Amino acid sequence: MNIFVLTGAGISAESGLGTFRDKQGTGLWAQFDPMKLATPQAFAANPDEVHAFYNARRHNLLDSEPNPAHSALARLENAFEGRGDRLELVTQNVDDLHERGGSSSVIHIHGELLKARCTFCQTVAEWRGELGRSDICTSCNRTGGMRPHIVWFGEFPMFMDEIETSLAASDLFVAIGTSGSVYPAAGFVSQARRLGIATCELNLEPSDNAGEFDEGHYGPASKVVDEWVGRVLSEP
Ligand code: APR
Repeated sequence: MNIFVLTGAGISAESGLGTFRDKQGTGLWAQFDPMKLATPQAFAANPDEVHAFYNARRHNLLDSEPNPAHSALARLENAFEGRGDRLELVTQNVDDLHERGGSSSVIHIHGELLKARCTFCQTVAEWRGELGRSDICTSCNRTGGMRPHIVWFGEFPMFMDEIETSLAASDLFVAIGTSGSVYPAAGFVSQARRLGIATCELNLEPSDNAGEFDEGHYGPASKVVDEWVGRVLSEP
């Protein structure tokens, strides 16, 4: 059994990390303009403002903890390894809560908040503190080129070849805590359907593309993901 799981901001919501879009209008992009903070053009024009935005999110992340949804997926990964099945975990999230929740194989399609990249030599380094224009690249020693290792709007997502190959080889596609608003990740469910792969949505409430899923289970991820993993592991 090969299961491909795509997670979004909703799986980290109960850990205290904000989502980007919600019906109450309290999502991150309702408070901040993504075109001023999450594009290469914004970074070129106002690097200090962009750094401050990601420094605040990095600080918030270091104060947060994984929730039972993260540990449930780690439990599934461990159980599958012992029986020759495979779980591919692809996340749109830039937090490290899947890893801290026990998952050992996580693909971050939109990058990672706890890493920084040198725009001169492209070296990626672990980065848990404040990041700014005065920081020096630990590889090429140049100053002023460090940026968050995050995929901004208008940039190419990461690991797409590996992701496409893995999706095509899966028996079940599961989307967890994502609104299905941003492509290419939002298109994975229709790709799965075209390939005859079963699809399942786990979310607080039906997402706008809920109709594309064969089944859906709704409620807070800490409850719904834990229950879903329990069902998967109880199947022969
Ligand atoms: N449990 C489960 N799902 C939840 C919970 C919860 N406790 N709280 C919110 N959700 C769901 C919402 O119903 C919504 O469908 O999580 C989803 C969050 O949607 P978005 O905020 O749009 O997050 P996401 O889908 O991950 O956004 C995709 O957009 O801005 C970019 O790069 C950013 O990776 C992000 C991408």
